Parts: sequence; structure tokens; C-alpha cells
Amino acid sequence: MRGARVEVMSVLIKNGRIITADADYNADIFIEGERIHTIGKNISHKADTVIDASNKLIFPGGIDPHVHLDMPFMGTFSSDNYETGTRAALFGGTTTVIDFILQKQGHSLQEALAEWSGRASGNAIGDYSFHMAVTDFNQNTKKEIINMVEKEGITSFKTFMAYKGALMIDDRQMIGLMEEVKQHGGMVTVHATNGDMIDYLIAKHRDERKLSPLYHYLSQPEVTEAEASERFVDMANYTGCPAYIVHLTCEGALNAVRNATKRNQNVFVETCIQYLLLDASLYEHNFDSAKWVMSPPLRQKKDQETLWAGINQGIVNIVATDHCPFMWEQKKMGKKDFSKIPNGHPAIENRMELLYSEGVNTGRISVNKYVEVSCTNPAKIFGMFPRKGTIAIGSDADIVIFDPTEKHELSATTHHMNVDYSGYEGWEVTGKVKTVLLRGQLAIDRNECLINKGYGQFIKRKKVLGRI
Ligand code: URP
Ligand code: ZN
Ligand code: ZN
Repeated sequence: MRGARVEVMSVLIKNGRIITADADYNADIFIEGERIHTIGKNISHKADTVIDASNKLIFPGGIDPHVHLDMPFMGTFSSDNYETGTRAALFGGTTTVIDFILQKQGHSLQEALAEWSGRASGNAIGDYSFHMAVTDFNQNTKKEIINMVEKEGITSFKTFMAYKGALMIDDRQMIGLMEEVKQHGGMVTVHATNGDMIDYLIAKHRDERKLSPLYHYLSQPEVTEAEASERFVDMANYTGCPAYIVHLTCEGALNAVRNATKRNQNVFVETCIQYLLLDASLYEHNFDSAKWVMSPPLRQKKDQETLWAGINQGIVNIVATDHCPFMWEQKKMGKKDFSKIPNGHPAIENRMELLYSEGVNTGRISVNKYVEVSCTNPAKIFGMFPRKGTIAIGSDADIVIFDPTEKHELSATTHHMNVDYSGYEGWEVTGKVKTVLLRGQLAIDRNECLINKGYGQFIKRKKVLGRI
């Protein structure tokens, strides 16, 4: 029996300036179906759609490797689901996200995978993949690691050194997990803060009736992150397991990684856009500062400088978001007690524009570094390169057409994230995502989303190398 003829659509992008992690040149791009077919000067192929990208920059689709969509957390769910979250990501130039499956303590990884796949599949508009958060490492979990890597294409295993009783594992479990993951070609990633110290400080502040959002910040001083980061790095060194620290915020933690490089250990580091741009002066007694209740908390200006420098030194590899939005009504769960405010910050839509405006326009990073930390390194570190993360022949046609001169204001009244406040209300940014293609399909154009839920594909990932 002859199969139905599938129509392959083509797109020609003319006259753009293509920026990758290591190149910057003017050329046309011809896309056939889902992939980039040709890159060259004055391409004359006929195409179903022709886009004029004169005076625009062309970036690979952004990859945000740290998001929480529809996540059960602190007695509620993060307010963006796969449909709203990946749509907002596309509006902001992010075509692929990596979300976190959370194993329930006492249950299997496979059960958790089924639960998260049920939420994502058929709903995602943009492409997505999963990290597996191991919250209960035991003899049964151990047997499941190989299947995750070899069969499911889930090659990164997230651990929490905090959130005791819900997500935290102890060092014994950490070492066991690292040994198993290393053997099968995966990587262990970590929320590196000292959970016991933080729980002690939270209890102390509550006993003293210090209950405003400011005490969220004061319950997680820099030492809690620096200590846990150093411990994690040492355990990774001992086991030889590829390692990655998520949402690193401060000088002390980065120094632990820098010290590890002196023994030729490599540990990947992610920071998030908010830690580069916002600081702890935002914490007050006023409940409004519940907006900034996230873990780790915002830090000092000196930490921001360390992080920007770390990006240029190649020690901070990725700028993500840790997008974990909650409606104001949900934040109010902690109106009388900071420890009950759901932790998280919305930024999935804002990352690429903010990093361009505050990073490239201010001269803090080059435009190539911008692509490296927001597109290419996430693809390389998490086993999606060169399918994702670059503009090259044969790569997925995930493309952002960006106007570097357009000024606009960020606001909850215009953003597409399902959250009723913005962490960046009224911020003026220079540079706007104009058009986005996802696997060859026009996804965003003229401020409209042109693809529907279900278009987003689960991306199976390759084994990781531990170096890029
Ligand atoms: O405040 C945060 N970061 N919420 C999400 C959970 C996590 O720790 O990443
Ligand atoms: Zn975390
Ligand atoms: Zn997170």
C-alpha cells in the first residue's frame, strides 16, 4: 500500500544577520520541512513562505533548561501549564524547555514519568524535555536509572539538598545516585543549599515571630549555598560523575566551582536571569516583596558582578529562568508566614529579551556569548546538540528573528505567562522577538501565536559528556 503524500513546506529567510555561539555573518536560510536545508548568500530557491529579515538578528531558538510547569509544590501548582508556559516561552524566543519530573517519595521514577508525560503530551506548544528529580534513591530507584537514560532519553537527574521531607535526599543517597548515573552516561544536577541549616533558621525566625518576606531571604544566607555547593562538587569529584549546579546565585558558591577547576574537575553552572538583574534590596517587611520569594533568594550586587564575570570566564555556562510562577492569590498563602509563600519567579517569556537588553546592549557580554549561554550551551550540556541550539544545515529550524533596536515595556498586562504580576513591571527593554520558527513552522509572528497545543514534541536526549 502506498502511503499518503506528505506535503513538505519550505521557508526562505532573506537578508538576516545570523548569530551563533561562534559566528556572525549575513546570509539567507532555506528551510525544508522541519530542518535547515541551505545557508548561503542570495539563495534563489522557491519557497512557500519568504521572510525579509533585513536589519534583524537571527538567533537559534532559545533553550531554557530550568522551568517548572504545572508543578505540584508547597500545597499548590505552578500557574503555567504546558500550553500557557510553552506559548509564553515562544513569545519570548525560547523554543525548547526542560522541565523537572518530581519522583514522589515512596514511588517509582516510572510512575512520575507517566504523570508528567500525561500533563505535557498533547498540551505543549513548544518543544520540551524532562530532567528526572530523584527524591528517594533506594535499591528500586537504582534499577530504574539505566532505563531512563537508554530508553526514555532522560539523561539528567536532579537532586535537592534542601526541602527536607518533600524533595531532599541525604549525602548517602547522593553518592549512590552519582555512582549509578555515572555508569550509565548521565549527569547529576543539584539545587545546592544546606536544607538543615535553612530549616533551622526558618524555625528560629518563626519562633521569634519574624514572619515577613524579608525573613525568607535571611533564612538562606550565602553560606547555606556555598557550603552545599562545595559538598556537592566534592562528591562529584569523588565519584567522577558529570555534575551541574542549577540556579547558582552567589560568589561563595561560584568560588567552590572555581576551586574545583584547579584540580581539573568540570562542574557546569547555571544561573538565572533574575540573579543577574535583581538584588536583595527588594526584600522588605511589606508583603509585596513576596514577588521575590524564590529559592535561593536574590543576593547582593557583588554577587551579580561575580555572575556576569563568571559568564565571561566560562565558569557560568547557562542563563536559565527557574520559571515557577504563582498567581498573587497563591503567594498570599504566606501572607502571615513567609515560609508558606510558594517559592518561585516567572520569567520564561522575559529571559531572552532581558539578557539581550541588559547583557549585550550594556556591553557586559558579547552577542555570541548571549547565544552561547541561552541557546547553545543548554543544547550541548543536555545532549540535544546539534539538533538544537545552533543554526546549521541539518539542525532543527528553530529560529528567532530579533529586532535589536525596538524598545518596549515588560508588563503583566501584555505578557503571555499565566501569572497576574510581573517581576519586571515597567522595565523598558531594547530588543524584541519579532518572529519565531519552531521546526520549520511559523510559531510567532506579528504578536500572535500561530501554532496550537500538541505541536510541541518531547525531545529525547543523548548521553552527556561532562565537558563541552
Ligand atoms: O523558588 C524556586 N526556585 N522554586 C522552584 C523550585 C526550585 O527550587 O527550583
Ligand atoms: Zn531549586
Ligand atoms: Zn527550579
